[in-house]
Amino acid sequence: MVLPPRKDSLKWSAYPEDVLPLWVADMDFPVAEPIRKAIRERAEGFLGYPPREGDPELKDLLREKAGLEGEVAFMPGVVVGLYAAVAAFTAPGQGVLTQVPIYPPFLAAIREQKRTVLANPLRETEGGYRLDLEGLERLAYATRLLLFCHPHNPTGRVFTEEELAALAAIARKHDLIVVSDELHAPLTYHRAHTPLARLLPERTLTLLGPGKAYNLAGLPLGAAVGPKPLVEALRRHLPHTFPNVLAMAAWKAALEEGEGWLRETLERLKANRERVAAWAKAAGLGHFPPEGTYLAWLKTPIPKAAAFFLKEARVALNPGENFGEGYDRYVRLNFATYPEVLEEALRRLSEALKKA
Ligand SMILES: Cc1ncc(COP(=O)(O)O)c(C=O)c1O
Repeated sequence: MVLPPRKDSLKWSAYPEDVLPLWVADMDFPVAEPIRKAIRERAEGFLGYPPREGDPELKDLLREKAGLEGEVAFMPGVVVGLYAAVAAFTAPGQGVLTQVPIYPPFLAAIREQKRTVLANPLRETEGGYRLDLEGLERLAYATRLLLFCHPHNPTGRVFTEEELAALAAIARKHDLIVVSDELHAPLTYHRAHTPLARLLPERTLTLLGPGKAYNLAGLPLGAAVGPKPLVEALRRHLPHTFPNVLAMAAWKAALEEGEGWLRETLERLKANRERVAAWAKAAGLGHFPPEGTYLAWLKTPIPKAAAFFLKEARVALNPGENFGEGYDRYVRLNFATYPEVLEEALRRLSEALKKA
């Protein structure tokens, strides 16, 4: 077990030393060796401005590996793309649709730019979380833009082709542009991820990045892929920057040589995913094991549950209330860590639950 150096890592430095951090979406595992090698080699080379458009070979690889077509624009991270999309496709005062609970920067990208969140809550069914398509259709007339997250953070849903087809029909009927954050796409367990763009190519901008699947969040880079007019509209709202050359080299190596590491990592994550599911069941918490991502969304009976667990268990989880209104009894747990860390965290959480 080799944990990240505390002072270098947001995850490990944000809380006092006695707190186990199972919050922000970094994995505790080291980066794949072919990626490290590619970064070292690139660092020996030219480090001036790259061509403004970025590496054309990486663009081809991205389209090929993700099964996408169209124009590609690089940007300094996927969240930058969310902000740019809100600016490009809506005006202040307008609404932007998204499924809640949702990764908090979706809400920030809308609110900070003076737009309104049109919240379309996922439905909790016996089989897990589902899109509320009727609710979506009721809100769709009031906006031009849907910010979609697939795989979904925090629930880990990997939406089915049927669900995506139904969403595509609503988007066509109501003339929506859909920005689909598919950053977690390589991290699925039982069912492969289908890009939304396969069902809605003419209206989807897909956002991708190497940050989650290859654990490279500190080398921020993202890409938008889709129809040329949409990519160009987005590009006009991106900051004046060049794609980071080390991050491009890392992403290329990840796509060309990172498969073995990714497969091994998914096996580790799968074991942890099962452990968390069994623990949640025994602890009486509401939980549907994620179909993708290394995040577990847990429903507790405790108001402000994350603050309670931080105080009583000394375990840092993401507070549910950051993911939308009405979720303060939920927490998001990041299980991308070593089994020893996870076991100790679950033991502490179990002890704390006895005091609730
Ligand atoms: C769904 C989703 N989108 C975007 C991000 C952040 O992406 P970036 O660091 O490239 O801005 C995360 C990070 O956890 C995420 O889970």
